[in-house]
This record gives sequence, structure tokens and C-alpha cells, in this order.
Amino acid sequence: MSLSINAALTLAAQKLAAARITSPHLDADVLLSFVLKKSKEFLYSHSEQILKRAQYSKYKKLINQRARYFPVAYLTNHKEFFGLDFYVDKNVLIPRPETELLVERALRAMETIKNKNATIADIGTGSGCVAISIAKNINARVFAVDISSTALKIARKNARAICTDAAAAVGGVNMPRLSRKKIKFLHGNLLEPLKNKKLDIIIANLPYWYDNDMKNLLKSSWSKSIKYEPQIAIKGGKTGLSIYRKFFQQISQLKYRPKYILTEIDHRQTKSISAFIKKILPNSKIQVFQDLNKKDRVIVVTI
Ligand SMILES: C[S@@+](CC[C@H](N)C(=O)[O-])C[C@H]1O[C@@H](n2cnc3c(N)ncnc32)[C@H](O)[C@@H]1O
Repeated sequence: MSLSINAALTLAAQKLAAARITSPHLDADVLLSFVLKKSKEFLYSHSEQILKRAQYSKYKKLINQRARYFPVAYLTNHKEFFGLDFYVDKNVLIPRPETELLVERALRAMETIKNKNATIADIGTGSGCVAISIAKNINARVFAVDISSTALKIARKNARAICTDAAAAVGGVNMPRLSRKKIKFLHGNLLEPLKNKKLDIIIANLPYWYDNDMKNLLKSSWSKSIKYEPQIAIKGGKTGLSIYRKFFQQISQLKYRPKYILTEIDHRQTKSISAFIKKILPNSKIQVFQDLNKKDRVIVVTI
């Protein structure tokens, strides 16, 4: 079948809308741009151009996968985060825009650390998006830990790409070039690989979803994509906080305590996690920051 760009987009958006995908036109555009390796503007300015058979067949395959809720970022293997282009696949959580707040607050906290050789740890690094964004913006030694060795492979791949390929940076023209040696990726359970390290800041975006939420979300069409993401990156147990509890317990047992701990949370967990932190670290100060939707998202603990 020979189809123009315009006709292919229309058919694809109809198929996605029928499958109750919430952004059918946007997804149809992104996936065709990806197949043709052209910008969205090109699609509009060449709408009558006829697609080659191989192009259309690849596009149809992607649209069919998307109609089954497979995430766009996994289909294109790209996700932009903090102005950088990250490789993603089913082994890592797709970086979320709200996690940029965690990076912003960590950079702010860093400004108050006088130590020239400051050391930061990113626990539950996944794609490496937090660790790499931080290393790209400040001069600090970064340790990145994950329990998933397949996720660590992706994080290392991203560090290599963002380190060596200037074109990988989507924005941030003035960003310093990242030295790959600035980030050390470690396999392990939470802080275990860093027990004896002196760390100035510990950052963690660990799984915090309630088990029940997962069940409900999988029923609604907008969130069905989540079933394709690694469950080890999402599920936080009955209260959502089982992994964070272990994390703070480990912090209380560290030989050297950091000055700051930053974590991403669900807005319903502010009270319970604050109470737990106060119990474990009684002299700490807790600040809560809201995301763009005015929901509590980041907790900054100062020790
Ligand atoms: C919510 S994802 C965050 C990924 C990435 N930092 C981001 O912000 O997109 C949580 C990550 O924590 C990792 N993880 C889960 N349990 C862990 C544990 N006990 N120790 C270390 N990492 C863990 C998962 O493999 C996953 O990569």
C-alpha cells in the first residue's frame, strides 16, 4: 500500500484513539519522525510525500505495539531528561519529568557544600538520569548504585554516550563536558556498596508505589503502559515505603553521615516518611518541595 505522510499519520492516530491512547496524534507524529529520522516540522511540510514500503511497514509495526500500550520511549529508545538525551529500554524506568526537581534540589544543596572534592551518591540509578545530570552540571565525584545489573549496563551506556558524544546533549549548550571517570557505577542493595565512603549528599529515587495503586492503575487506559516497565523499579510494598525504610535504616548505621539526603516520594507519603525519618535521625531537619502539579514530591533531609 502506498500512503502519503499525511494519510499514514491520520490512519495511525485513528488506530491509537480507538485503543484509547490519550495522546494519539502526538504519538503518531513522534513515531513517524522516528522512522523517517526527520523532525515533526518535516512531516508537516512534506505531508504529501509517499512513504517507502519498508518505512510504512516499520511504522505500522510500531503503531500496533503502541496500541497495546507499549511506551513510546521504549519504541524509540530515547527519553529527554534535564536537557539530555537518555537511551532507555525495558530494563530501566522511563525517567519522569517530576524527577528533574530532585536534580534541581541536589544542585542547590551542592552550592552549600564547601568541600572541593564533594561526593554524591545516587541510589537506585536506573537509566543513570539523576547521576549523569548532576555530574554534567557540577564538579563532584558521583557514585551510582542499583540492584539491577541490567539497569546498570544501561546507565553505563548513557554515561559513555553523554560523555563522548556532544550531540547527545539536547540542550544546555554551556554544560561542561562530562568526564566518564566522575561517575562510578556499583551493583548492590541500597547503600551496601558505599558503607565506608564519606558522602556529602545521598540522593534516592527508589520504588514508592503502593501495591494497590499498581492494581488499579493497570486497569485505566492512560497508565497501562506501566506494566512494561521493570516492576523492581516501581513497587514499594503495601505502604509504598518498605524500601525507603530500609534505606533510612542503612543511613542511620553509616560510619560517616552525609550532610543532605534527598528522596523522591508520593505526595501521600509525606507524613509517614517524615515521622520515620525523625525517629531514625532525631536531630535532622526535613523540608518538602512540591512539583509543578503542586504535589509534595521531594524531601530534603539536613543532618
Ligand atoms: C524509581 S526507579 C528510579 C530510576 C532513576 N533513578 C530515575 O529517577 O528515573 C528505582 C530504581 O531503584 C532500583 N532499586 C530497587 N530496589 C533497590 C535496592 N534495594 N537497592 C538498589 N537499587 C534498587 C531499581 O532497579 C530502579 O532502577
